[in-house]
Amino acid sequence: MADGTKDAGSSNQMWGGRFASGPDAIMEEINASIGFDKKLYAQDIRGSIAHATMLAKQGIISAEDKDKIVQGLNTILSEIEAGRFEFSRKLEDIHMNIEARLATLIGPAAGRLHTARSRNDQVALDFRLWVKEELVRTDAALTDLIAALLDKAQEHADTVMPGFTHLQTAQPVTFGHHCMAYVEMFGRDRSRVRHAIDHMDECPIGAAALAGTGFRIDRHMTAEALGFRSPTRNSIDTVSDRDFALEFLSVASICAVHLSRFAEEIVIWSTPQFGFIRLSDAFSTGSSIMPQKKNPDAAELVRAKTGRINGSLVALLTIMKGLPLAYSKDMQEDKEQVFDAAENLELAIAAMAGMVRDMTVRVDRMRAAAGSGFSTATDLADWLVREAGLPFRDAHHVTGRAVALAEQKACDLADLSLDDLKSIHDAITEKVFDVLTVDASVASRTSFGGTAPSEVRKQIAWWRGRN
Ligand code: ARG
Repeated sequence: MADGTKDAGSSNQMWGGRFASGPDAIMEEINASIGFDKKLYAQDIRGSIAHATMLAKQGIISAEDKDKIVQGLNTILSEIEAGRFEFSRKLEDIHMNIEARLATLIGPAAGRLHTARSRNDQVALDFRLWVKEELVRTDAALTDLIAALLDKAQEHADTVMPGFTHLQTAQPVTFGHHCMAYVEMFGRDRSRVRHAIDHMDECPIGAAALAGTGFRIDRHMTAEALGFRSPTRNSIDTVSDRDFALEFLSVASICAVHLSRFAEEIVIWSTPQFGFIRLSDAFSTGSSIMPQKKNPDAAELVRAKTGRINGSLVALLTIMKGLPLAYSKDMQEDKEQVFDAAENLELAIAAMAGMVRDMTVRVDRMRAAAGSGFSTATDLADWLVREAGLPFRDAHHVTGRAVALAEQKACDLADLSLDDLKSIHDAITEKVFDVLTVDASVASRTSFGGTAPSEVRKQIAWWRGRN
């Protein structure tokens, strides 16, 4: 070896300890998926019961064998749920662990269960069932988060705050309107969830290894029994397709990005400098050294979870990108990515719903910030267009001069005197002050989807009818 030491083969110090028994142990470790695919036990058993029932109905196995198989599988289900099942890595994966146990329980009839199927269509079925169920859970979690946001939006439909672009004060908005922006995002996530469920609603079992089977199976029957719209239409595609997992991860990644942006705002808003909100103790922590601090840990972790969820999507895309049809063992690496993303997404959504419900909105701080930074400058320009007939570009220029004057006098636009404003443009009258306050600014924006409290209340009502 380059460093002059001798390669000690299977007694190599680096791996000799862990893989003391050599290549067999290494192969077992790299090959086995039972460590993570045991999560699919319930789906595997459901799929097998449906398959055995179909085989018996088609006269491919006897009713007697089918009864034994179903009974045995139900026993295994209760053993696993009671924690009494011994998973073996030697048996590689959940499919073989269950089949081996079935053989011990019912004898030779167990061997008939695998007629007209393969682990390739079996795993495609189990995993698809799991992902479908997870999407239903995601939908419920998002519904709850949206409900929390709708309540906050309703409570704060009139609460003014600065709206930002480039994180610079732009125009006053309401906090309710801002919350409703997230309702739109999570609402789109929900609709993506439903589309993903619809796309994956086809049943893989019966594709067998890749070519289908010569047995007279009834794939429509198993599809219906397992709650799918129809069987998949191409057996080669069926065992090589992981779009359903990729779609789950895409949906999860986009949702995680939404959560992360919201988390980022919560981090910013809860700084003493902004002071727009106060997080509850339940979702923040103190510092072990600086007693004045209250850290938005939950928001920071929600923001960070996005990294691993998006990472899972990139991982599975990369796993799949070079695979020839049909099944390759590479595809076994799909599950941990999906399980990890699912677990963390659920947690992040729940933490976000909790933070939204528990946060205190500091209405006075928001109002003070909303009025500073010349946030009603656009209202002045619009007024000049509407009431004085100026072209918008000229109004923009006049307003710029008013802002410069206010800056020079260290006051807000609304604090300038009428004389000050007249010195800039003589068409300005007393009435201009009606639009220079943040409340007037916000109330005037009644265009569809605008920030006026009346409009925001309409949007809340629309969502309440749908969420
Ligand atoms: N554990 C395997 C997986 O997760 C099951 C399918 C195995 N199929 C095979 N032909 N070896 O993908």
